[in-house]
Amino acid sequence: MSEMRQTAKSSATDRPAPLVDAFARHITYLRLSVTDRCDLRCTYCMPEKMQFLPRNEVLTLDELHHLALGFIDRGIRRIRLTGGEPLVRRDMMDLVRALGRRLGEGLDELTLTTNGTQLAEHASALADAGVERVNVSLDTIDPALFKRLTRRDRLEQVLAGIAAARAAGLKVKLNTVALKGLNEIELPDLIGWAHGEGHEITLIEVMPLGEVDGDRMDHYLPLSAVRDRLEARWTLRSSSYRTGGPARYFDVEETGGRLGLITPLTQNFCEGCNRIRVTTTGQLYPCLGGGEQVDLRAAIRSADPEGALDDALDQAMRIKPARHAFRIDAHGQRPAQPRHMSMTGG
Ligand code: GTP
Ligand code: 5AD
Ligand code: SF4
Repeated sequence: MSEMRQTAKSSATDRPAPLVDAFARHITYLRLSVTDRCDLRCTYCMPEKMQFLPRNEVLTLDELHHLALGFIDRGIRRIRLTGGEPLVRRDMMDLVRALGRRLGEGLDELTLTTNGTQLAEHASALADAGVERVNVSLDTIDPALFKRLTRRDRLEQVLAGIAAARAAGLKVKLNTVALKGLNEIELPDLIGWAHGEGHEITLIEVMPLGEVDGDRMDHYLPLSAVRDRLEARWTLRSSSYRTGGPARYFDVEETGGRLGLITPLTQNFCEGCNRIRVTTTGQLYPCLGGGEQVDLRAAIRSADPEGALDDALDQAMRIKPARHAFRIDAHGQRPAQPRHMSMTGG
């Protein structure tokens, strides 16, 4: 894999300006999607017959690497690799190893958000490359509900993946989309189980992104209601702990574990946004819930890739919106954005 970009701008004096948007937010965190494909079909995420991108539209591994290094040059300190499911991309671990070499050299953290189905196979290699924690999506530990929600019978693999991650020394955070009438009654037990296993867990409100079969907002569950119900059972203490992400955290006194809540619909958190995201075709979306977009693929395939990439990143800073456009009254309407979460990786 090309290392050219790593030495292109090494001196502190010619280093380009850091990424700061029009609202003075410092953008230091990149979510880089390495594939839109996935081996699960979560019902709230995508339709059963999902149309994935033709492979020739997807950036090569060298291009993804080149882009990531360009971002590091502009002050990105944390990179999270996402998908779709990042581990279904066959050359993915090469990218992890290449970026892992930048840890301590401009990069503070390299992480991954995964559905866990292939984690058992890759956990030790991830740890060896310098990854210290992974976020694993898990909405239920009931095998029948898992099969219904993901349209695949793979709970056992996911649980084995989580166990392997822990055995490899990786910290695991679970992400659970809270779904009315589906995992709703299981949430306290799921949280109790996660904490018992030593995992942090974060609940997420379902977001209207891309068309699915049916109306996902039928299962929208405001986390304010979940919190009230949890508080009837446990003592939740608001915590000052932050990862730089959108979650607000609580310590659960009885379990001794940490619970995060991500509330794009009921409680906006955009004021402190530190992130941008890039799809596997090199489209930069400055906001998960906005339509603003900058074409980085065109930039890195142009005659002056470095200059064009810098210009494109400056453009992204100019157009990053103040806040996302999700609305609670989205029920029965078209999604706030036509693209699925699997395009932008959250
Ligand atoms: P850490 O805090 O570093 O653990 O990561 P994270 O919670 O930001 O990352 P993760 O991939 O676990 O994200 C969990 C989910 O949070 C994503 O899949 C999205 O559903 C949601 N999320 C992350 N970033 C944003 C954001 O900027 N806006 C909105 N609306 N949701 C986000
Ligand atoms: N709304 C909220 N979360 C979603 N995810 C996928 N689609 C949606 C959606 N429409 C979650 C996955 C995973 C993370 C990457 O995003 O469950 O935890
Ligand atoms: Fe795949 Fe994640 Fe979407 Fe589920 S939520 S289908 S695991 S990309």
